[in-house]
Parts: sequence; C-alpha cells; structure tokens
Amino acid sequence: MGKEFTVSKWNIRGKYVVITGATSGIGLAAAKILASRGANLGIIARNETKANEVVNQIKASTNEIIVIDVFIADMSSQQSIRKVASEILSRCPKVDVLINNAGALFQNHQITAEGYEMTWAVNHLGPFLLTTLLLERLKESAPARIITTSSHGHKMARKGIDFNDLRAEQLYKPMKKLMGGPTLRYGQTKLANIFFTSELGQQLKGTGVTAYCFDPGLVNTNFNQHNGKLARLTMAIMKLFSRSPEKGAETMVWLAEAEEVSHQTGLYYVDKKIESPIEITNDRNIAKRLWEISEAQTLI
Ligand SMILES: NC(=O)c1ccc[n+]([C@@H]2O[C@H](COP(=O)([O-])OP(=O)(O)OC[C@H]3O[C@@H](n4cnc5c(N)ncnc54)[C@H](OP(=O)(O)O)[C@@H]3O)[C@@H](O)[C@H]2O)c1
Repeated sequence: MGKEFTVSKWNIRGKYVVITGATSGIGLAAAKILASRGANLGIIARNETKANEVVNQIKASTNEIIVIDVFIADMSSQQSIRKVASEILSRCPKVDVLINNAGALFQNHQITAEGYEMTWAVNHLGPFLLTTLLLERLKESAPARIITTSSHGHKMARKGIDFNDLRAEQLYKPMKKLMGGPTLRYGQTKLANIFFTSELGQQLKGTGVTAYCFDPGLVNTNFNQHNGKLARLTMAIMKLFSRSPEKGAETMVWLAEAEEVSHQTGLYYVDKKIESPIEITNDRNIAKRLWEISEAQTLI
C-alpha cells in the first residue's frame, strides 16, 4: 500500500523549514512569522555575519523555543549550492518545507563562474539545483512542501524564455538594456519559476511533496538597491505604492502553513488565491524543455 499523506492535518509547528533569502525583505519577514508559529528554520545565506544577526533578530522576536540553523551558500554558484545541500542532508534528518526565495535583478550583464547569466543562475538555476539535491529528503519527510517566490514581473516575459539566448547576450546589448532588457530578463526568470513549479507538481504527484509559487506583490525591501542611483531612485518612488515586507510575506507563510493547500500542487498564487499566470505557462512542452535544459545546465 502507498503511503497515506492526508490522514493527519498539516501543522507548521515543529516542522523544519529551509529558506533562502531570509536575511532581508520578504524572506526575513516570513522567517520571523514562521518562527513565531513554532517552525524550526534552516537559513541559507551568503553572508555569515548578516545571517547570525538575523538569527538573533528572529530569536528576539519570538518566545517559541525553536532551532535556527545557518547554512552558507551563494545561490549564484552551483559549487556552493552542492556544498550547502550536502551539509543540510548530513545535519537535517527532516526537511518539511523548502522555500526558494532568494532572488535579484541585475542591471549589468554578469556571467557566473560556471558560465551562466547571473539573473538566470540566482533566480532559476539556483532553486532548481537546490530543490533537486534536497528532493529525496523532502520525499522522506512527506508530506512536504516546496515554495518558490515568483513575481507579477513574469508578465513582462509574455513571449516566453528565449532558449536560443540563455546567456541573455541580446537583452543586455546597449540599446536593449536602455529599453528595459535587464527587467525583461528578470521577468523571464520569474516565468521560469512558474514553469518549474508546474513541472514539479506533475513529477511529484503521489509522493506527498507539493509545490507552489506565488507573487508577493510590490514590496518595500532591499530589492534592486545594488544597481546604482537610478535604480535606487526608481525603487524610492515605487515605495509609495509598495506593501510592507510582512504583507509581502503573507502568501508565502500561508502556503507554508495552510491545511487547505495540502491537496493542491504546481500552482501560482497571489494574495492567498490561485491565479492564472500568463497563457504561455499552459504549454507543458515548454515546461519540459526548461526542465531538460536546467538539468543539463546543473549536470543533474
Ligand atoms: N520586492 C518586490 O517587490 C518583489 C516583487 C515580486 C517578487 N519579489 C521576489 O521576492 C524575493 C525576495 O526579494 P526581496 O524583495 O525580499 O528582496 P531583498 O530584500 O533584496 O532580499 C533578497 C534576499 O535574497 C538574498 N540573495 C540575493 N542574491 C543571493 C545570492 N546570490 N545568494 C544567496 N542569497 C542571495 C539576499 O541576501 P543578502 O541579504 O545577502 O543580500 C536577501 O536575503 C526575490 O525572489 C524577488 O524576486 C520581490
């Protein structure tokens, strides 16, 4: 007989949640709320000092007696992700929830040590590789959940992901850059998060591991602060229309703790509701192609 995953009610208390991008913004707000609900945390961060400060902040914000582990990894580096995944596998007997939240937009064209365009590496290949490496542990811990932070920004990529230009050389050419190429590139990676989640949902049917992605809305965080004065000025103006990080984290926290999503998988959410992303996401062939390309690029 197969394992029955629906008997006991899902409860976040005592669960072990691995989260990336919890040193700032939406991820930090979510980590504090999850800690206050009794979840144990494994924080993957690139900066150890910042991560330890965040652990102190989270502990000071709750009376719950919880475990908070720090794991160091740069999500743009596959070598770093492989190392951190093996640390997590050796230190954590259970991973109940994986939250792929770290993400960024890059105004200048950058290529990672492994030869991938930076936005693609951090926002898509990083979550893909980390999830794949932790998948067996998630299955062993089932019922378990994988949550990925996408964005309304995926709508910019209505023509899809240009598989002929995976290093985004075209989008960062001077004229294209001026016309918003880097923002479109960001949108493509957030579209990739949606395809990734829907394909995960298909592949994990019957395993007790479910996958979700969501749009946090426009949120007042450190997002886009490393891209120069113009980007900071734009973000300062957008702040007027932005939500707080706590509000931005609401759907993420809900996906981590709500019983009602236990029987859903592969979907995209906005403000705690299932939403339809752009039409192209219905094309299963693109989801499969993206999966194969991602496997090849991460040597899985
Ligand atoms: N803000 C918005 O309006 C908005 C809207 C839609 C979607 N999102 C998405 O929400 C997610 C969180 O962003 P945020 O708005 O909270 O921005 P944020 O305040 O800049 O937080 C980003 C987090 O990701 C981490 N990070 C970035 N690059 C990393 C790398 N190479 N390796 C490891 N960690 C890395 C950052 O670490 P450090 O602290 O070390 O920098 C930080 O913890 C992102 O995926 C973003 O695309 C944001």
